[in-house]
Amino acid sequence: MNLLDGKLVSEKIKEQIALDAAEFTTQTGRKPHLVAILVGNDGGSETYVASKMRNCQLVGFESTNIRYDETITEEELIAKIKEINQDDHIDGLIVQLPLPKHIDPDKVTEAIDYRKDVDGFHPINLGRMQRNLPCFIPATPYGIMLMLDYYKIDTAGKHAVVVGRSNIVGSPMSILLARNSNPGNCTVTLTHSRTKDLKTEVLRGDIVVAAIGKKNFVTADMVKEGAVVIDVGINRETSTTTKSGFKLYGDVDFEHVAPKASWITPVPGGVGLMTIVGLLKNTLEAAKGTIYPKQ
Ligand code: GUN
Repeated sequence: MNLLDGKLVSEKIKEQIALDAAEFTTQTGRKPHLVAILVGNDGGSETYVASKMRNCQLVGFESTNIRYDETITEEELIAKIKEINQDDHIDGLIVQLPLPKHIDPDKVTEAIDYRKDVDGFHPINLGRMQRNLPCFIPATPYGIMLMLDYYKIDTAGKHAVVVGRSNIVGSPMSILLARNSNPGNCTVTLTHSRTKDLKTEVLRGDIVVAAIGKKNFVTADMVKEGAVVIDVGINRETSTTTKSGFKLYGDVDFEHVAPKASWITPVPGGVGLMTIVGLLKNTLEAAKGTIYPKQ
């Protein structure tokens, strides 16, 4: 078993991002700027946004966290997004999900200018991704592709099984793995809650991406000997043994699956760190205007 080390890979890529950001700042007299909007007090979301802001600062970006009480209306939120869309000093905008029930995440996502949509959630970016055109790729799938690329994992012609069809991870991951690209060129099975005989499907995977949001859901009996296992799960449970008061669990039963896997990501220290890298890379591209030229 070999570890796909998110800490190592993310640090290496962040070093390069920091160099590129410094060059951008020298040339333009300003830093790449990411704005993150956080609505309400979801514990997980607070942690993720804080980490995104901290990492922006580490690589020399400007970052702004706008916080709203969960009572904010959809109209107020969308008005703020439209204001940011017009602001030339802001390169990237993300609205952390999930949102309170009275706000439609699809409306919010579509209100963001696709040229600032560094989460890659806007239908224009999703459509362009599916067509293999330059676009912002959702941060977690992007981070996973960067990790596969770093370790030169051979994906062409392999059978990839994605567990979970979320808009944020499972669905875009299935598109990226199937694209005519490297990494890519997989035969992809996208499984979900209505899949019959999930175990048989997952057992066919040379590559398994677990993005279901359930602790230890993928067990050793579901994984083929020699499979590459990517664990996207970040399941938080309260703990008395950690400093933060929380312990993170993946979607994969690491202890029993790891001995069968050729490569596997740990949790923590795997995909989560790569998600940040995907977001930083998108923000840098947004600032530079390499994907969508600045007007
Ligand atoms: N919630 C969980 N993952 C993400 C993400 O990548 N971006 C945003 N905006 N919200 C999320």
